[in-house]
Amino acid sequence: MARLDFIRPAVREMAGYTPGEQPQGGGFIKLNTNENPYPPSARVRDAIAACATEDVRLYPDPMANALRDVAARRYDVPRDCIVAGNGSDDLLAIVMRACIDAGDTLAYPYPTYSLYDTLAEIAGARVVRVPWPADFTLPAGLAGTDARVTIVCNPNAPSGTFVAVDALDALARDVPGLVVIDEAYVDFAADSALRLVRQHGNVLVLRTLSKSFSLAGMRVGLGFGQAPLIAELCKVKDSYNLSRVSIAAGTAALEDYDAMRAHVARVAATRTRLIAALRRLGYDVPDSQTNFVLARKAGVDQRPVLEALKQRRILVRYFATPELRDALRISVGTDAEIDALVNALEEICA
Ligand SMILES: Cc1ncc(COP(=O)(O)O)c(C=O)c1O
Repeated sequence: MARLDFIRPAVREMAGYTPGEQPQGGGFIKLNTNENPYPPSARVRDAIAACATEDVRLYPDPMANALRDVAARRYDVPRDCIVAGNGSDDLLAIVMRACIDAGDTLAYPYPTYSLYDTLAEIAGARVVRVPWPADFTLPAGLAGTDARVTIVCNPNAPSGTFVAVDALDALARDVPGLVVIDEAYVDFAADSALRLVRQHGNVLVLRTLSKSFSLAGMRVGLGFGQAPLIAELCKVKDSYNLSRVSIAAGTAALEDYDAMRAHVARVAATRTRLIAALRRLGYDVPDSQTNFVLARKAGVDQRPVLEALKQRRILVRYFATPELRDALRISVGTDAEIDALVNALEEICA
């Protein structure tokens, strides 16, 4: 056995990383990792291709200023109120690095995005998971945890539900610590908490270009907060956390905003059809403000359905936790992909 006692005990005790399945090569209908089924526009792909020059021998701009400038114009926020990340996962890790010492409290409604648990374990944080109520309004207990950092995923994954921005406004007023609002899916929702950044110095809003902008493979995230908070976060980010290609792709994508909105509209229309079909099949499905839905049959383990779909070369997401094993999270694909999924489920559930 190799000696590993130089690895921190907190890390040795962690379960291994289990990424969502990414089959390389075709033949699968991939509805398991909430990617966008539509490709980025030709303009974005041209911007990526234009990076293939001798300049790749040079480091990228450490502050990704081209990207921050276009984001500043797009979202009407000063540039020094924006930090760019290698995906929003990178921004979440930066928040942990900047704010959490071992033993500090991190709080979030639960179930939610699983990376929060992982980052908390790595940091040795004390975690307070406050259960979502049945109607998925912001849990009352969240404001009383005295956490150094409170994270609200809004819209939430994997429920797809949305908390009213007024409730987040009150949370930011009521808690002493930082409130991180993870808006990875917000372009599929009806509102956003971005406006809270102007009012509260303890609010950080995270966005990603992985979902609505079809750039999961490029790794581009954006964090919005007041300038003093952003300056602290920038102290602990990797120097060159976005590649030249990521910066170019993200910049072009934000400039081609209408292309994103068109894809979001198509996804939303397909989502309506998918939810109706799943409810006809006996699933309980909350209304979704994301590009995925959570389909539940109370008390019925969905692993056999997951496996039967996989045999038909359709991938969806199953969570082997007590709270979620009776549910499947299904990304909204193209109309044809969703038709195939519904046909398969009709066979499996017959
Ligand atoms: C809620 C939530 N936040 C953040 C992310 C990370 O996105 P990114 O690809 O920008 O790292 C995801 C990705 O699935 C997510 O579901």
